[in-house]
Amino acid sequence: DDAKKGGFEHYMLKEIYEQPQVFYNTIKALEKDSRLSMLRIPSEITVAACGTSYHASMAFRYLVQEYTTKRLSVELASEFKYYTPPVRDMVIGVTQSGETADTLAAIEAAKARNCPTLAVTNVLGSSITRSADWTVFMCAGPEISVAATKSFTAQLAVFMGMVNVMADGRFTEPLAHAHRSIERVLSTDLEAAVGLLGSATGMFYVGRGVFYPVALEGALKMKEISYIHAEGYAAGELKHGPFALLSTETPVVAICIPGQTYGVMLSNIKEMKARGAPIIGIGVEGDTEVESVVDVFVTVPEDHPMVQAVTVSVVLQLLAYHTANALCRDIDKPRNLAKSVTVE
Ligand code: G6P
Repeated sequence: DDAKKGGFEHYMLKEIYEQPQVFYNTIKALEKDSRLSMLRIPSEITVAACGTSYHASMAFRYLVQEYTTKRLSVELASEFKYYTPPVRDMVIGVTQSGETADTLAAIEAAKARNCPTLAVTNVLGSSITRSADWTVFMCAGPEISVAATKSFTAQLAVFMGMVNVMADGRFTEPLAHAHRSIERVLSTDLEAAVGLLGSATGMFYVGRGVFYPVALEGALKMKEISYIHAEGYAAGELKHGPFALLSTETPVVAICIPGQTYGVMLSNIKEMKARGAPIIGIGVEGDTEVESVVDVFVTVPEDHPMVQAVTVSVVLQLLAYHTANALCRDIDKPRNLAKSVTVE
């Protein structure tokens, strides 16, 4: 077992460190996949997924909305059966394992409505590959840790590669270099951030735009492996309830990256701070404005905003990992969780 961990203390950390290569491999494989040009055809796409795959799919939706003229909706696969989705041009089932019962059922439901189906999965020969019309593989390699890390990044790579096809190659350059930024954030010093979480029993992750699903995934990682109750929120929704919970006991991880959401995130941070919440701010290197309003400042390199969705995600995986490690949790096998959920 130790040999398979390649010198890392846990599979999760090993898998986090594999991500620059995984991102690179997945983007390269997609570039060679000429079938992807058929993605230019459908104007409406529905994506169904669960758990971490659902968060990656939500990020996909933001990217498609921002950079293409297509319409894309994302559904929890477990809710797909309770309403009749309109027949759209294509249904995509996203599942690392290829075995999640609800995601398989969503593909079957789409087929029953004569809708073309596409699987995005990490496992060759998995059930979803036999069910969907065609399959795109993520090149993550086997993921052992129950908490998904490199498979999430590989899904983001697949979706970014697809957006690149839909946008006629506009993002080829930033995607080709993304692995370098991912490599750099692996050595992020998170000691102060972990220290600030201290004995927290509840915390928030907030972001806007594509950083909203990134916040949801960050919170999920923290919940899964540290058992700290962490809630991901769209920053604009804080005033509609969660503000009542803010105090010196509820740390907030706030993602504040230059771009459309920057100014409003900065004022949200100040509002949360005024209510006493300790803030871990995630921003870009050299951003003294964010640094001056937060308690702990954690940075990612300047890069294309699409790539920053990946680098911030990796930093949040590391934050969950180091927090859980400090709490001596069973990181690779969290209580009550399974790697793949094959029942409804
Ligand atoms: C389980 C795993 C999660 C995963 C989810 C969906 O809950 O613990 O890490 O995100 O299933 O799995 P899938 O294989 O469909 O991506």
